[in-house]
Amino acid sequence: MFEDIKDNNIYKNLYDGQWISSASNNFITINSPINEEEVGKIQAMTGEEVDKVVSKAQSSFGVWADKPVSERADIIHKSAAILEENSEEIANILTKEIAKDIKSARSEVIRTVDFIRFTADEGKRIQGETLQGDGFHGFSKDKLAFVTREPVGVVLAISPFNYPVNLSASKIAPALMAGNSVVFKPPTQGSISALYLAKVFQAAGLPNGVLNTITGKGSEIGDYIIKHKEIDLINFTGSSEVGRHISEVTSMVPSIMELGGKDAAIVLEDADLEHAANNIVKGAFSYSGQRCTALKRVLVLESIADRLVDLITEYVSQLKVGNPFDDVTITPLINNKAADFVQGLIDDAIDKGATLKIGNKREGNLLYPTVFDNVTTDMRIAWEEPFGPVLPIIRVKNIDEAVDIANASEYGLQSSIFTNDIDDAFHIARLLEVGTVQINNKTERGPDHFPFLGVKSSGMGTQGIRYSIEAMSRPKAIVVNLRERSDKVGQVK
Ligand code: NAP
Ligand code: G3P
Repeated sequence: MFEDIKDNNIYKNLYDGQWISSASNNFITINSPINEEEVGKIQAMTGEEVDKVVSKAQSSFGVWADKPVSERADIIHKSAAILEENSEEIANILTKEIAKDIKSARSEVIRTVDFIRFTADEGKRIQGETLQGDGFHGFSKDKLAFVTREPVGVVLAISPFNYPVNLSASKIAPALMAGNSVVFKPPTQGSISALYLAKVFQAAGLPNGVLNTITGKGSEIGDYIIKHKEIDLINFTGSSEVGRHISEVTSMVPSIMELGGKDAAIVLEDADLEHAANNIVKGAFSYSGQRCTALKRVLVLESIADRLVDLITEYVSQLKVGNPFDDVTITPLINNKAADFVQGLIDDAIDKGATLKIGNKREGNLLYPTVFDNVTTDMRIAWEEPFGPVLPIIRVKNIDEAVDIANASEYGLQSSIFTNDIDDAFHIARLLEVGTVQINNKTERGPDHFPFLGVKSSGMGTQGIRYSIEAMSRPKAIVVNLRERSDKVGQVK
């Protein structure tokens, strides 16, 4: 079913229901981070083509918005079924294209199937409401507001490399369910996996022009797309740097931003240390730490630090490193530039006296999992987002110091608290400047109907299925003002 999305391993774009080639004849070769083998080529689209795509989405929006919600849901449900049928093929492409271990790639695709199904059902449940005026002083019950939810129009969906299928569908499905049309700009590294997803939605019966794709480097065509006057809402997931840039250059365009993170695990003296260490290692090193919700620092009370550090180091030493098609956890990073950045943080920590517990071993863009103890706040690793397999451990004297260091970060995505004292847990959770606090669990986005948001440099707006549908639609009130009833009508009993 994917024959028409590429020609001679050159991937096309979805435009008005057709898979088309760009007139630019400009291609970007996608090489696998595993072995530099060519996965395929994508098109570098031009500004003129962007204009055509956005206008097509604008002119196609009405047909889709007028479709009964139940029919939209049927098509969205069908896309979930098609994705499930093709999950193994797409998981293999994901692993090749972004070096995500095959087990995580399979769960990304299956998670996306569940996400899309839940979105279709939730979209049918999101109804408007009716309000009566007499709840407010000076107004009567003859003023009736019929409040419905309206689509916003054309949604620009931009997704990051680390979840090209799931973090694309988490925008596209709710946007479509709300009645919007979508212009989809996938990450360059991840475009091929994402184009397979676009084909799945198209094959499910979306009317032509409702979902269109634009491939090309964000650094080249990105600004042209985001500044386009016919874009009604931007739904972006990516780095805080690019997110901040987008919000600076796109005034008055509503946007949802899911950005970077520096999630902290705060470990108290009464915590179950095996459980904490196990969660911390999973949270820090799955997909080699290339997750916005990866645990990226540990703040541990001095009195239990030695024991926790030993447990973490032992569990990290058991992590398998290697080819993502094998049963491993640590795989090559997305590119050498990313690996260089992580190595820079490692070297800075060593120069400034951190205790290397394990790791600091590198083979090209494959970095072995690294743990540092005795990290201090003058080290870059204490504050910067590595997006790689390195974990700094900061020893603190008390809870207040842990909260201060946690909140001193520019980021505010999630935090974990490990303790058996629920009162302490809630007390600390209320003090933490983050979107979500996990008690006795690693930081993570799912389950996908929970609210997912970042504060400070970690984002704007809220995602999570119902929140996403509501964020990409808006209330509309039609207010009926009943006039004096004629004397033919009796009193209300
Ligand atoms: P990125 O470099 O910010 O890129 C994200 C997306 O933005 C890509 O599709 C990129 O295209 C595009 N882009 C770049 N410049 C653009 C511009 N001027 N205008 C429009 N689009 C532009 O992020 P990444 O490296 O893919 O992902 C890693 C980052 O994303 C990390 O910081 C991570 O924390 C964050 N992230 C956050 C979440 C979350 O939910 N909070 C989830 C995942 C990742 P190209 O690929 O063509 O450059
Ligand atoms: O970085 C992607 C982000 O959305 C994390 O998702 O489920 O790995 O916590 P998850």
